[in-house]
Amino acid sequence: MNLPDLKKAKERTKNKVEYKENPMVESNSFLGKKYFLRTYGCQMNEHDGEQIEAILEHLGMSPCDELETADVIVLNTCAIRENAHDKVFGYLGRIKHLKKERPEVLVCIGGCMSQEESVANELLKRHPYVNIVFGTHNIHELGSMLLEAKTGSQDIEVYSKEGEVYEHVPYKRASNITAWVNIIYGCDKFCTYCIVPYTRGKERSRKLEEIVKEVEELKEKGYQEVTLLGQNVNAYGHDLEENVEFSDLLEEVAKTGIPRIRFVTSHPWNFTEKMIEKIAKYDNIMPYIHLPLQSGSDRILKLMGRKYTKEEYLTLFKKMKEKIPNVAITTDIIVGFPGETEEDFLETLEVVNECKFDGAYTFIFSPREGTPAAKMKDDTPLEVKEERLQRLNEVINEYSKKANLKYVDKVVPVLILGVSEKDQNKVYGYTDTMKLVNVDASKETIGKIIDVKITDAKSFSLDGQETKKESVH
Ligand code: 5AD
Ligand code: SF4
Repeated sequence: MNLPDLKKAKERTKNKVEYKENPMVESNSFLGKKYFLRTYGCQMNEHDGEQIEAILEHLGMSPCDELETADVIVLNTCAIRENAHDKVFGYLGRIKHLKKERPEVLVCIGGCMSQEESVANELLKRHPYVNIVFGTHNIHELGSMLLEAKTGSQDIEVYSKEGEVYEHVPYKRASNITAWVNIIYGCDKFCTYCIVPYTRGKERSRKLEEIVKEVEELKEKGYQEVTLLGQNVNAYGHDLEENVEFSDLLEEVAKTGIPRIRFVTSHPWNFTEKMIEKIAKYDNIMPYIHLPLQSGSDRILKLMGRKYTKEEYLTLFKKMKEKIPNVAITTDIIVGFPGETEEDFLETLEVVNECKFDGAYTFIFSPREGTPAAKMKDDTPLEVKEERLQRLNEVINEYSKKANLKYVDKVVPVLILGVSEKDQNKVYGYTDTMKLVNVDASKETIGKIIDVKITDAKSFSLDGQETKKESVH
């Protein structure tokens, strides 16, 4: 048993990152068994889910859609806000009932929640029917833990450490059109509200040649798009011996010729001009940047430990708009950070009115145990925070709609990903600027980039029709 330790999770040393080969367990013990996986949270977690599926299928299992028919249940959890916790503990209630009827079912909890000292202790004390708890640092051990698991006993193996980098990790990718590619793990920013640096360890970059190789392989398999993943993609390379940074990586990935390259998430603090230049230079780097603002008040930004001012954010934002043709920029904003006044909030609204974001994810501050902000005095009533969120969302939605309306009657390239959820006779895809479009086109267009004439715009999606380019002859 290894329980997570908040103090160790905080530690950052100058020790070199170890690069290791991903181990794989060989066994037929689970041949023909069914697994049920539920993933919560960000793209990083979704991608971890693809690794978990590969491990389970390597043991001979196949997926099922219902909890009740599963032999192995895995919850891949998120810790970013309290409601993510609530969802998992709610789900555990259902699982507890199931275990009474079928005690042989193996229940596994992984992801960011497992990495929290308080959660692991709660699982240990109050949820003994959970068989396996694993963390973000040892997903590769899930196979061997399952082989050792005996129904009824609990095995918690969670490591609080800076972390390594594993190469040649197998993934069961959810799509054969778009793929995620990790470029940097962890986070060293320690924004005062955020749990991520504690759950995912220190910033550690994959080697540039490994990333390029992975993208080349994906391209060869016919993938149309890769999304480079990291908590702070623009911190890429600072920990490597080689003198490379994110702009170099972008360039090398662009040169592979894969049709579309995206990246999430960026931090305004180390987004350099060189990076902007490369995005502008290569047609296959998509003109879309997710640039979290968090707050428009310098006082709150400082308390958040964001390392930039409102002016610095605006300068960067304007540079991006100026240098990258047609760029779309979205953001994250937290309202109700401890001590946020109406004036602070109005400053956030001002920045939103100035930037006119293409879209935004907005949140009410959620205290995370162990982070500095959780100890800050917070006397704003929840109703006030909720009201601020509502006012913010109204403004945000208005600008999203306005940004979308600009597309009407234009012809834009759209990568078609599948059959539209709303209308089985339509397909859906994304513009280069990451706008969701429901398209009147045949299913044969799935997996292709086609020209679409936009016919209508809503706040969160566009409608369009396939157009064939007119011949110039
Ligand atoms: N409370 C509310 N929102 C948070 N985020 C991160 N931590 C918290 C928290 N404790 C938001 C930030 C981040 C996004 C992924 O989640 O806006 O950019
Ligand atoms: Fe959290 Fe800040 Fe790191 Fe983003 S940059 S993951 S908000 S600590």
